[in-house]
Amino acid sequence: MSVHLKQDRPDTRNVLDKTRQGVIGAPLPRPEGLLKTTGTATYAAEYAAEGCLEGVLVTVPVVRGAVTAIDEEQVRAMPGVVAVLSDKRMTGRPAQGMAGEAPFQPAQEVCYWGQPVALVVAQSFEQARDAAKRLVVECRGEDAPLDPAAVDAEESESTRQGDLAHAMAEAAHSVDITVTTEGHASAAMEPHAALAQWDGERLTVHASLQMLKFNRAELADSLGLEQDQVRLLSPYVGGGFGSKLGVSQEVVAAALAAMQLGRPVRVVMSRQQVFQVVERRSETHQRVRLAADAQGRLTGFGHEARVSNLPGESFAEPVLQSSHLLYAGDNRLLRLEVARIHRMTAGSVRAPGEAVGVQTVEQAMDMLAAKAGIDPVELRLRNLPDKHPENGKAFSSRKLAECLERGAAAFGWEERPRAPRHTREGEWWIGTGMASAARVHSVVEAKARVTLRPGGTALVETDMTDIGTGTYAILGQVAGEMLGLAPADIEVRLGDTELPPGSGSGGSVGAASCGSAVFLACEGLRRKLAERLGINSDDLTLKDGFVRWSGGEKALPELLGNAPLDCVGHFEPGDSTQDLAVSSFGAFFAEVAVNRWTGETRVRRMTGAFGFGRVLNARTARSQCLGGMTWCIGNALTESLLFDPVDGHLANCDLAEYHVPVNRDVPDCEVLLLEERDAAASPIQAKGVGELGLCGGAGAIANAIHDACGARVFAYPMTPDRVLAAMPEG
Ligand code: MOS
Repeated sequence: MSVHLKQDRPDTRNVLDKTRQGVIGAPLPRPEGLLKTTGTATYAAEYAAEGCLEGVLVTVPVVRGAVTAIDEEQVRAMPGVVAVLSDKRMTGRPAQGMAGEAPFQPAQEVCYWGQPVALVVAQSFEQARDAAKRLVVECRGEDAPLDPAAVDAEESESTRQGDLAHAMAEAAHSVDITVTTEGHASAAMEPHAALAQWDGERLTVHASLQMLKFNRAELADSLGLEQDQVRLLSPYVGGGFGSKLGVSQEVVAAALAAMQLGRPVRVVMSRQQVFQVVERRSETHQRVRLAADAQGRLTGFGHEARVSNLPGESFAEPVLQSSHLLYAGDNRLLRLEVARIHRMTAGSVRAPGEAVGVQTVEQAMDMLAAKAGIDPVELRLRNLPDKHPENGKAFSSRKLAECLERGAAAFGWEERPRAPRHTREGEWWIGTGMASAARVHSVVEAKARVTLRPGGTALVETDMTDIGTGTYAILGQVAGEMLGLAPADIEVRLGDTELPPGSGSGGSVGAASCGSAVFLACEGLRRKLAERLGINSDDLTLKDGFVRWSGGEKALPELLGNAPLDCVGHFEPGDSTQDLAVSSFGAFFAEVAVNRWTGETRVRRMTGAFGFGRVLNARTARSQCLGGMTWCIGNALTESLLFDPVDGHLANCDLAEYHVPVNRDVPDCEVLLLEERDAAASPIQAKGVGELGLCGGAGAIANAIHDACGARVFAYPMTPDRVLAAMPEG
C-alpha cells in the first residue's frame, strides 16, 4: 500500500498536535549517538572487502591546460602497483547534487589547480600513495584568469523596481557599503571516500554522500550504467556541508577501477585533496545600499554581488536569496553576476547564499540605525514588510519580530544609540551587536516506507541520509508520534538506495520532506488499523502500543496479528506555497571582546532565536542552530580560502591553515526555538532549520566589533590585522 500526496493546499488539520504519544518535538537523544561517540558507526572508508585494492588520486599543478603524457610504465613496476588509470570520466568536475542540472562532467582538459587526472591502484594504501607521488604527469599549462575582480562578469539574475538612485538621493539617511567575503571550504570532518565492488553486472559503492537518489543517477550516468545497476550506501556521513551533494572524483574513480580490475577498490581523498578538489564557496564582492526616511523606514534597498565559478558551471552563489524578502523598500535593485575564473568548482557550501549575503545586509542595517539614531532592533522591526516586497505574496509564517524581541530580552540587549568604546576590561574593548536571520525554505519529493511488525514495533526505511543532523532521531519521532510507539520500539534504516528514495540532505529540505513522507506512510497505516476495527481513523488513538477508540481498546500486537503491515508514504511539493512567501527566520545577538592593541576578536556569548515551523526534536534542532552559530564565528573571524595570486594554487589546504572555529573559539551559546506551525510549508508543518543558524550571524559579530572598538570592517573574515587597520585613533 502507498499514500501519495502532492501538497496543493495548506494542511491545517494539525494532526501531530492531536496525537497522544507525546514524542514529537521532544528533546530525545539520537538513536545512533552511542555508535558515533564510541567510534563503532562505520564510515565509508572503514568497510572491509575481500581482496580490496587501494587507489590514490593524482592531481596536477596547473590551473589550465592539458595532460600531455603520463609515464605509467615507471610506477607500474613499483611494488604492489596494480594499475594506473587516467580515464577522463573520473577526472572531471564534481556534480552539484541535483540530477540533470549539473551532472558529473568528464574532463577534456585541466581547468583548475589540483584537478585529479589519474588514479594509482595498488595492493596497499602505502604502495598506492608512494606510486602516486612518483607518477610523472606532463602537462601543458596555459595562462588563465585567476582574479574575479580582474575579469568581465556575466549577469546571473537581477530585479529592478522603482528608482533606487533617486531614493538614495532623496533619503534622509542612507548607507552605501562595499563588503568582500573570501571563499570557504565545506571542511567536513570525514574525508571523501568510496569503496566500490563490481560483480559483473551490479556496482555496490559505500561512499560518503548527501543525496543518494541523485548521486546514483549521476554515477550511473557517468559510467554508462542503468540506475538499477548501481547501489549506493551511506548510512553514516561525517558531515557534508554541501561538499557531498554530488558525486565527486573518488566515487567515479573507485567505481571505474573496480569495474576494470574486477576487484573491490577503495579511494580515500587526503585532507589536502578534499580542500583542492571538492566544491568551494565562491568569494563575494557585495554592495549594499539602503535609503530611509527620517524615521528609518526604508524607501530603497539595493544589493549587488559578484561571485565566481569555472567556465561552463551553472551554479552561482545565490547571495541575494533572502535579500528579496527580508526588508521593505519600494525602490529596489538586486543584481548578481558571475566572473569566470580558474579555481575549483564553486558550489553549495553551508547555507549557500544567505550565509554570506544576509550578514552584509545586516552590517548596513546597523550603520543605518546609527545614522538615524534608532535602536538596531527597532530599526528592523520598523522595516519588516507586510508582504513580499517584490511579488506581493503573503508570508506563510514569519516569527521574525518575535525572534528579535525575545532574543533581545534573553540576551539582555541594551538599547542604542550609544558611542563605541563604552566598556573596557583591561586591554579588551567589549561590545554587542545583533542581526536578523533568514533562509528560504523548500521541500522536494520524498518516499519512505513504514512497517508495523508483529509484536508491535515499527521499521522506517528510506534512502535519506543523516549527515550529522539528527535524521535517525526525527524520522523515528514522526513515526512514534503517529503510531503511538516509544522511540525505542522504532528502528530507522537510512542511507541505502535499495530503500525508497527520500529527499537527501541538502538545502535544509530533509526534515520537512522526508518527515512528511514518513507522516504520510503512518497516516496510511492508521487508516488500515481503523479499517480492521471498522471505525473511522479520526476515532483512533494510538498510545504506548495500545489502540483505543470510542468503543474499546486493544493491544497493537493483538490487532496486527502475525503479518507485518506496511505503507509507503510519497510526498511531493505541489501548489500549497505557490501564492506564499515561505522562509525561516531568526535573530542573533553577540557580545565580543576586541583587543585594543592586537585587534584580536573573541566572541564571548551569543544568543540565537529561531522560528522554522514545527520543531521535530528540540535537542537536534538546537544542535543544528548551535552548529550554524559556530560557523557564524568562522565566517566572521577566521575562515578563508587563500589562493596564490601568481599560480592559482590553494595555499591553505588543511585544517591547520584553514581556520574553522574550534572549541576555544566558541563560547556557550543560547538558542531559543520559537514554536510555529506552517501548514503550507509541509504536511508536518515544519520548515527548514539546518542552515538557518548560519544566515546573518556573522553580521551580529561585525556589528559588535564596531560597538566595542569603533572599527567598521568591510572584509570578512575580520582578522586582527583588518580590525586593527579599521580601528579609529586613540
Ligand atoms: Mo547544503 S550546502 O545544501 O549541504
